[in-house]
Formats: sequence, structure tokens, C-alpha cells
Amino acid sequence: MKQPLLYHIYSLLRLLPLCIVCVSSSNKCIVTHEVADCSHLKLTQVPDDLPTNITVLNLTHNQLRKLPPANLTIYSKLTVLDGGFNSISKLEPELCQNLPLLKILNLQHNELSHLSDKTFMFCVNLTELHLMSNSIQKIQNNPFRNQKNLIKLDLSHNGLSSTQLGTELQLENLQELLLSNNKIHVLRSEELDFLGNSSLQKLELSSNPIKEFSPGCFHVIGKLFGLSLNNAQLGPSLTEKLCLELSNTSIQNLSLSNIQLYRTSNTTFLGLKQTNLTMLDLSHNNLNVIGNDSFVWLPHLEYLFLEYNNIAHLSSRSLNGLFNVKYLNLKRSFTKQTTSLASLPKIDDFSFQWLRCLEYLNMEDNNIPGIKSSMFNGLINLKYLNLSNTFISLQTLTNETFLSLVHSPLRVLNLTRNKISKLESGAFSCLGYLEVLDLGLNEIEQELTGQEWRGLGNIFEIYLSYNKYLQLTSNSFVSVPGLQRLMLRRVGLKSIESSPSPFHSLHNLTILDLSNNNIANIDDAMLEGLEKLEILDLQHNNLARLWKHANPGGPVLFLKGLSHLHILNLESNGFDEIPVEVFKDLFELKSINLGLNNLNILPPSVFDHQMSLKSLNLQKNLITSVEKNVFEPVFQNLTYLDMSFNPFDCTCESIAWFVNWINKARTNISELSSHYICNTPHQSHGFPVMLFDTAPCKDSAPFELLFMVNTSILLIFIFIVLLIHFEGWRISFYWNVLVHRVLGFKEVDGQSEQFEYTAYIIHAYRDRDWVWENFSPLEEKDQSVKFCLEERDFEAGVLGLEAIVSSIKRSRKIIFVITQHLLKDPLCKRFKVHHAVQQAIEQSLDSIILVFLEDIPDYKLNHALCLRRGMFKSHCILTWPVQKERINAFHHKLQVALGSRNSAY
Ligand SMILES: *[C@@H]1O[C@H](CO)[C@@H](O)[C@H](O)[C@H]1NC(C)=O
Ligand SMILES: *[C@@H]1O[C@H](CO)[C@@H](O)[C@H](O)[C@H]1NC(C)=O
Ligand SMILES: *[C@@H]1O[C@H](CO)[C@@H](O)[C@H](O)[C@H]1NC(C)=O
Ligand SMILES: *[C@@H]1O[C@H](CO)[C@@H](O)[C@H](O)[C@H]1NC(C)=O
Ligand SMILES: *[C@@H]1O[C@H](CO)[C@@H](O)[C@H](O)[C@H]1NC(C)=O
Ligand SMILES: *[C@@H]1O[C@H](CO)[C@@H](O)[C@H](O)[C@H]1NC(C)=O
Ligand SMILES: *[C@@H]1O[C@H](CO)[C@@H](O)[C@H](O)[C@H]1NC(C)=O
Ligand SMILES: *[C@@H]1O[C@H](CO)[C@@H](O)[C@H](O)[C@H]1NC(C)=O
Repeated sequence: MKQPLLYHIYSLLRLLPLCIVCVSSSNKCIVTHEVADCSHLKLTQVPDDLPTNITVLNLTHNQLRKLPPANLTIYSKLTVLDGGFNSISKLEPELCQNLPLLKILNLQHNELSHLSDKTFMFCVNLTELHLMSNSIQKIQNNPFRNQKNLIKLDLSHNGLSSTQLGTELQLENLQELLLSNNKIHVLRSEELDFLGNSSLQKLELSSNPIKEFSPGCFHVIGKLFGLSLNNAQLGPSLTEKLCLELSNTSIQNLSLSNIQLYRTSNTTFLGLKQTNLTMLDLSHNNLNVIGNDSFVWLPHLEYLFLEYNNIAHLSSRSLNGLFNVKYLNLKRSFTKQTTSLASLPKIDDFSFQWLRCLEYLNMEDNNIPGIKSSMFNGLINLKYLNLSNTFISLQTLTNETFLSLVHSPLRVLNLTRNKISKLESGAFSCLGYLEVLDLGLNEIEQELTGQEWRGLGNIFEIYLSYNKYLQLTSNSFVSVPGLQRLMLRRVGLKSIESSPSPFHSLHNLTILDLSNNNIANIDDAMLEGLEKLEILDLQHNNLARLWKHANPGGPVLFLKGLSHLHILNLESNGFDEIPVEVFKDLFELKSINLGLNNLNILPPSVFDHQMSLKSLNLQKNLITSVEKNVFEPVFQNLTYLDMSFNPFDCTCESIAWFVNWINKARTNISELSSHYICNTPHQSHGFPVMLFDTAPCKDSAPFELLFMVNTSILLIFIFIVLLIHFEGWRISFYWNVLVHRVLGFKEVDGQSEQFEYTAYIIHAYRDRDWVWENFSPLEEKDQSVKFCLEERDFEAGVLGLEAIVSSIKRSRKIIFVITQHLLKDPLCKRFKVHHAVQQAIEQSLDSIILVFLEDIPDYKLNHALCLRRGMFKSHCILTWPVQKERINAFHHKLQVALGSRNSAY
């Protein structure tokens, strides 16, 4: 069998490029423009064969122990040198001397332990120096003294026990100093005063065992805008001390995540009163108690992160003072223990009244018992409210539930996963600015009358997917005619039969999701008028019956008129038939998913109007053949095609065109070798479609042409043969005539005086008596007529050939007296006839007159004398009459024939 062999060759071929890549990459850097990437090459030496004009050299993840300056000298244009993830333990000062333009030096994850004053002495142009994850435990003297341009210095993950990086003022341009994950216990002013001229945007001290802030430690820094102390075990009292130390600094961003701040009081942040703090991160603190007025010291705060805490009770004064907060994250901020009702978190009414600038509030994933009537009072700038999974159970939303948001210009309200079971009339009527309403993943079970959405004058999107059971009526959405997106996935719709359709008023709808509903019944007017619809999801329903030809009343063409549809999903509907005209209005369709249906045969031209289709999914159907007349037009612009898992019939007729197309196409087809498998015929079962050998069918297209050409040639040949067979004499005869004419033989008729005889009579010897008897009387009757009769006019009756020729030449006409005898007469057959015809051709065919004494069939005449009746004009063919009374008529005819001019043809 040839398939397995092919398969092996195929797998070898597939490995080949792979091998080339491994071989070439095992010691070759990739150079693109002026960047050389030599990472992950197990290098032990700096490559010396790179273009010398490179500006970036990446040597990460190798086995380098040194960066010898001499070996890098040739790359003097380098601005970035990345030597991370090696085993470099020593750095020579000449390195920077040889690389004067170096701006970024990365030596993270190496084995540097000692930095001397000389190490970076010449690195004056450095802006970034990464020394993270080395073993630097102590820094003596001033190794960074010359780094006047340094912006970022990363010394995290070393063993440093002090923040001291120098003994004198330096690093005046430093913006980020990263010292996280070291062993710093104390922040001392004398260990930070080398930063006296710097203004640090970020001082990263996270994950250090800090236990003490010595007085003035932050004041010795020129300016400090950002400080991170995440993962330091500060607790409430040390936090309070920290804030006091930060008093009167320029601190703006303070990250105190995971510092075991389990409670705050009205003194915790007291020290921050004299600052302009805008960002405070208190997440992951197990914060349980927020004392009243804790935040009154933070009037400039704009961003407050309180997610992942354990707050038991938010009182009306917990958030007092946060007048400028715009963003508040309370995701998982509240206590989770639900053993008893008493331990549930409590949010008092008016808790948020202080946050009059708040725009964004995230309260997702909490365990709050319910919404109180004045819970959100005072949030007069709130635009985004995420209440996803915020409440234990909301059950029924009434016209009072969101009353506390009546003065909020809320745009987005997320109510997913709150066990909502019913929406009462006017539930959102106080949210007139709302644009997006997410009610997904609840337990809503009701008929939508349309009153639920009353007052949502600006609504743009309603997400209702994943609810228990919704029933739609004609009025379900009449109160929200501006709606553009409506999501109704898996809401137990079953059928949409109201008339007019529930969607009839939604003229602006662009996205409609009706998937996963098991809908079996819709009518062809359901989507009528939705002219702006761009995305329609109908997957996982039960619409197969609607497209059957056997459907009573014919197929239901529910897609008609959707002229702006871009994406159509009809996956998993049990379709086994597609009406040919079903997609005809969908001119702008870009993606169609018909996967997981039972389609076998698609009607030709079903996709003829989908000229802009980019993505076609037909996976897991029952398609056996991919035919040119169905798919060629639609495949043209495709960028994505999925026809995997179909039972392909790997024969020339079914699949050859497809395989050829795949080989040429630039369309993205994934898993071609594993998910496109032949099912039939038996001997190909289980083999990848792409291995199907089209060579035997390859000529099937040229073959057709060849066949046609061949047949035509054959037919023409047969025609010519038949023509020659039956009419060949005529052709050759006229050809002769033509040749003679063209070669310029003149018509000789005009000079009749040159003819001695009126006619030369050719006849069989045995007919001489008849000739004598019948032609001499004519001569007597008309003096101008003179026949050449061999017996009479030839001297001594000798039949010399030359005499014959000259006599024929001297005769104006030639009369053949045709009888059975003539056909047999050898001299006539061979010579006279030939010569006569020759002359006739030279003169005119009119010059020959045939006189039949007997009835001779044409074929016999032709066979014996190579003459046919068809060569001559009818008035030159005479028949000797049987009846005596017609002899006069015969004579008359003969006279006419003799008298006729020898004319051109
Ligand atoms: C530096 O170059 C020398 C000679 O060119 C070579 O022997 C040495 O191994 C190189 N060292 C490194 C670390 O590349
Ligand atoms: C860098 O050198 C390579 C050859 O070594 C050359 O092809 C390229 O044009 C050079 N680039 C510049 C910007 O000079
Ligand atoms: C060097 O390569 C590593 C790994 O490919 C990459 O993570 C790193 O960002 C690169 N460094 C530079 C400066 O591009
Ligand atoms: C620093 O870089 C500039 C160009 O940006 C260069 O002119 C100067 O020589 C470099 N400094 C040193 C000490 O090499
Ligand atoms: C803090 O609150 C206590 C009462 O709980 C009060 O006595 C004290 O004056 C408050 N301190 C400040 C600085 O407001
Ligand atoms: C806070 O900002 C104001 C005005 O922007 C400024 O005058 C004041 O000095 C700042 N306070 C501190 C402690 O930096
Ligand atoms: C809520 O609806 C009830 C009737 O169902 C009505 O009496 C009440 O006034 C409504 N409340 C508001 C705030 O509209
Ligand atoms: C609502 O919140 C859930 C959970 O965070 C999220 O998945 C969903 O996208 C949100 N909905 C909207 C409309 O933002």
C-alpha cells in the first residue's frame, strides 16, 4: 500500500526544517536590525562574530562566568547589555570603558557578591542598572558614585541588611530604587542620606523584615513620592509610626499590602495629615476593624485599595474624610464567616456618604446580607458599580431596591451572581443614566412584561444570560427601544412565538444572543426589522426542523433581511438541510459557524452572496465531499476555516479539489494533519486528508480538456474521412480547377474561331454505329455544327494518341456518350477521359457534355471514368430518351448544350 510509505516520507519531511532550526540555533545568535539575541544558547564565551554595529546584546540564560571587556570591545556601539541568568561573579571596570554608550546594564540572577568603587566607575552613561538576585550582602564605600544619570537601580533579592549604598550624596537622578526582598531591619536616616539630592518616584522596600523607622529617615531623602512596604510585618502600631515618619514628606503613593494591619483607628494615618497622599493600598491585610474617622487625614486620597480583607462592619463614619476618592476597591473586603447571621458583615446606611467624588466602586465577591434603603446615599458621582456576587441573596428587586442610587449618574451596574429571582416593575426606574445592566448568572424566573426596564432611557446593553426561565412577550422590550445588545443565553426560552416579535421595537439592536435555549419554534418574522444586527448567536438550539424542505409551509427563512449581519453562530442545532436561499440577504457576513450539525450535502451556490466571509466553521458535520461549485466562491477570501472531524470521502471526485485548494490557500486551517481524516474509501480510512495523493486526479481538470480536445479531433477526423470518402472527388476536382485558374489559364471561349470542331465525341468503339446514326443528321441540319468523329475524321481511321489530343484541343466541346461499353473501353478509361477532363478544367466545365444512353449509376461512372454527374451543370447532362417522340426534344437540348458559352464557374 502506498499511503503508509507516503506517511513516513511526510513525517520525515516535517522533521527536516525542525532539525535545521535546532542545528542553526544551537550556536547562532539571532540578529535583527541592530539587536543580537544570544539567549538560551549555553554559551560559555561572548560570541565574536556578530555585526560590530549592534546596539543591543542579549546574553541571558547562558553559562558565562565573566564578561571580559576585551571580548566586548568590538561591540562599542552597545547601549543595552543584558547578561542576566549567567554565573558571572566578577565585573571588570574596563567593561564600561569599552562600551561608552552603554545605557542599560542587566546582570540579574548572577553571582556578584562584591561591588567596589571601581566596578561601575566608567559607567557614567548608565540609566538602568539591574543587579537583582545576586549575592550582594554589603555595599562599602561608593560604587554608584559616578552614576549621575542612573534612573533605575534594582538591588532586590540580595542579602543586603542596610539601605546604605554610599557614604556621600549621589544618584541625584535616581527615580526608582528597588530594595525589596533583602534583610533590612531598620530604616536609618544615616543609611538613606546618600539620596539627599534625589527625588524618588518609587522606593521599593517590600518583603523586608523592617521593624523600625528611625526618626527622620524619610526626610533625609530629597523627595519621596512613592513607597512600597508590602509584606513587611508592621502591624497597626508600626504602621502608625511609619505614617508619622512620612509626615511632611512629598509622599503620594503608599503601598501597605499584607502588612498585618488588622485594624485601623483615628490615629493610624494621623501622620499622613501633612502629606498629599493620593494612593493608598491596604489590600490583603486581614483588616477587620476600620475605626471611625480612620481616614479623615487623607483628604487628597484618590485611589483606595481595600480588597481582600476581613472587614466586619462598615459604619457610617468608617470612610469619613475620603472626599476625593475616585476609585474604591472592596472586592472580598468583608468577612467571609457565615456560621451565624450575627457574624455577617454589616454595611450601615450612609456608609458611603463621604465619597462624593467616587466614580468606581467594586464590591464583588462579598457576603453582604442585602441592600439597605440608604446604603449608597451620597455617591453623587458614581458611574461604575460592581455588585457581582456581593449579596448573599437579593431575590426580588423592587422599585425601592436601588433607591439609594437615585442621585448617582450610574452608567454600569453589575448584578451577576446575586440569586436574584424576580425583577419587579420599575426595579431600575431610578437609574436613568444606566447604559450597561448585567443581570447574568442569577435565578430570574418570570415573564418579561417590559415594565421591568421602565425608566432605562439610556440603556445600551442588557445582559440576562444564565437565568432560570424567561418568557418573552411582544412587549418585553418596548420600553427600551435604544437597546443595542441583548444577551439571552441559556434562559430556558424554548420558543419565541409572540406576534409581533419581542424584538420588534429594537431597531438599534446590534448583538442578540439567544444561544443555549433549546429553541425549536420561531417564525420567520422574529428578526424582522433588525437591520442593524451584526452578531446573532443561535447556537445550541433545536432549529433543524425549520430548514427542512418537508417542513409544513416550507423552510422558515428567519435570517431574511439581516443585511448587516457580520457574525452568525448556528452551531449545534441538528441542521441536516440548508435551504439554498437561506443566506442570500447576508451580504456583509464575515463569520459563520455551522459546526456540530448533521450537514452532509450543501446546495451549490448556498454561499454565493457571502463574498466577504472570513471565517467558516463546519466542523463535526457529516460532510463527505468538498465540492468546487459549493465552496470555491466562499473560500476565496477566507482567513479561517474549520472543517475538522468530518467523514471525508477521499476520492478524486469528492476531495481532490479541496486538497489542491488547501495546498494553495493561505487560509488558516489548524490541526490539518490530525483532525481531517479520511473515512472512506476503505483503503484510505484513517489517513489524513492532506496526504491524499491528487496526482492521479490532478489531470482530471486538464484531463477533461484533453478529453474534449481529443474527442473533437477525432470527430473532425472522422468527418474529414467521411467527407473525403464521399466528396473527395469534388474537393480534388475543384482543387485542380482552382490551381489551374490561379496559375492563370485563360478562358479560351472567346476565340471560337480557333476551334475546328463544335464537339469532340468520345464513345466506346462498339457504340460507333449509334453515334454515326444520331450525330451526323445534326450536322446536316445545322451547317455550323461539325463533330469530330474518330472513324470519319481521323486519317485512315488511325487512332493515334497525338491525333486524339490535337483533335480534342481543336474542339469547342467534348461529348461523352456514356454506355456500359464506354465504362469498359480501355482507351477511353485511361486516356481520352483524362485528357478531356484536363482540357475541360483548362477551359471550362461547360465544355463537357454527358450523353447517357443507358442508366449508369454515379458510383460506376466514377469508378470507371473518375467522372461524376455532380461535376457538371445540369444542362450539360443529357439522357437519350426511350420514347421516340422525345428525340426531338433531346436534339434541342443538345443544341442548347453545344451552344452554351464555356463560362467561368
Ligand atoms: C574572550 O576572547 C578570548 C580570545 O578571543 C577567548 O579565548 C576567551 O574564551 C573569550 N572569553 C569569553 C568569556 O568570551
Ligand atoms: C550594520 O552592519 C551590517 C553588516 O555588518 C550592515 O548590513 C548594516 O547595514 C549595518 N547597519 C547600520 C545601521 O549601519
Ligand atoms: C533577553 O532575552 C530574554 C529571554 O529571551 C528576555 O526575557 C529579555 O527581555 C531580553 N532582554 C532584552 C534587553 O531584550
Ligand atoms: C556618554 O554618551 C555620550 C553620548 O550619548 C558620549 O558622547 C559620551 O562620550 C559618553 N560618556 C563617556 C564617558 O563615554
Ligand atoms: C479618636 O477617637 C477617640 C474616641 O474614640 C477620641 O477620644 C479622640 O479624640 C480621637 N482622636 C482624634 C485625633 O480625633
Ligand atoms: C501638597 O500640595 C500642595 C499644592 O499642590 C503644596 O502646596 C503642598 O506643599 C503639598 N504638601 C506637601 C507635604 O508636599
Ligand atoms: C413602588 O411601587 C408601588 C406600587 O407597586 C408604589 O406604591 C410605590 O410608590 C413605588 N415606589 C416608588 C419609589 O416608585
Ligand atoms: C460583571 O462582573 C463579572 C464578575 O467580575 C464579570 O465577569 C462581568 O464581565 C461583569 N460584567 C460587566 C458587564 O462588566
